[in-house]
Amino acid sequence: MSQPTPADITNALRRVIDPELHKDLVTLNMVKSVAIEGGRVQLGIELTTPACPMKDTIQKDIDRELKRIDGVREVAIDWTAQVRATAKPRTQLPGVKNIVAVGAGKGGVGKSTISVMLAAGLSKAGAKVGLMDADVYGPSIPKMMGVEDEKPGVQGEKILPIVSNGIGIMSIGFMVESERAIIWRGPMVHGVVKQFLDQVEWGELDYLIVDLPPGTGDVPLTLSQSIPLTGAVVVCTPQEVAQLDAIRALRMYQQLNVDILGMVENMSYFIAPDTGKEYDIFGRGTIEKTAARLKVPFLGSIPLNTVIRIGGDAGKPFSAFDKGDKATQTAVDQFVKNTAGQISIRNILRPAPLELKIT
Ligand SMILES: Nc1ncnc2c1ncn2[C@@H]1O[C@H](COP(=O)(O)OP(=O)(O)OP(=O)(O)O)[C@@H](O)[C@H]1O
Ligand SMILES: [Mg+2]
Repeated sequence: MSQPTPADITNALRRVIDPELHKDLVTLNMVKSVAIEGGRVQLGIELTTPACPMKDTIQKDIDRELKRIDGVREVAIDWTAQVRATAKPRTQLPGVKNIVAVGAGKGGVGKSTISVMLAAGLSKAGAKVGLMDADVYGPSIPKMMGVEDEKPGVQGEKILPIVSNGIGIMSIGFMVESERAIIWRGPMVHGVVKQFLDQVEWGELDYLIVDLPPGTGDVPLTLSQSIPLTGAVVVCTPQEVAQLDAIRALRMYQQLNVDILGMVENMSYFIAPDTGKEYDIFGRGTIEKTAARLKVPFLGSIPLNTVIRIGGDAGKPFSAFDKGDKATQTAVDQFVKNTAGQISIRNILRPAPLELKIT
């Protein structure tokens, strides 16, 4: 049997298209090595994020295309990932590849929970992640990450984030007593957000996730004016009445020139812990339909699940990934991957900003 050549392999890989980036693996510079030993082909493939939603599809497509070549019997892949940085020019935080805001039109929809989930999921996949609590009015990240009683250190002029589970965290909650009411004037909020960006030693990060306070106030304004963001995740609940708040949040990002990575439906449905049966409480699917109507990516549906609430209260950010039922774990994992995928799309394809035509 004839031995395949590296050129045969490369040509076949030109027929493998990344389903989200719509370009072939060779053009995307994702093929890092090709080794052929008899009928065995060993490839090094570099993904654009370790939380790639398309990995399984890409693997199947590679396998199919290579096995069409005479003499190829076995295909083995070494996966690596190199997160691409935002294409928007910025001089601040050069070590931070992407800054992603998590916001919503209103309070209590699960912004902090989703921020923690995203940070934990990306970190679990192997990315370097930071988590900035920009909710200066009601910081909840220290508790949710299980680092409530920590105090950040200082190194020279810089504040050091608290590191927990490999994630660097900064919050005003580390600096004020947890039960004190925090009353800020606009300029003070501006000062804190600027300080978190300029004076915190974030180091080298693939993703810095920013948990925003509810609504469309000073924090998103200061954040977006201080530093170019890769984009924003908008958290919604599925009730019909909540859509107005979601649209308000989308409009705000549009006005602030922040790209929208997509919408996520939180508390989408309820999974009974005893029977595993799913109950539709608030109107599951409303946000997916709204996202389709507005041509905004839909990032996933997160069920209402006690495991998520308990994990948040107990400061255990990985609960949603490794406790409870399989359906919740899959939903959470899919949301994290979809978001990572949208970030890669933004950075590589740079699609035009969303034109919201809200009718
Ligand atoms: N999918 C879920 N399943 C179960 N509980 C959830 C879920 N999402 C959020 N929660 C719980 O709902 C409460 C509110 O969530 P969270 O604090 O994340 O909302 P938020 O939008 O950040 O609120 P705020 O506007 O006050 O900042 C928390 O107790 C959290 O554990
Ligand atoms: Mg919150």
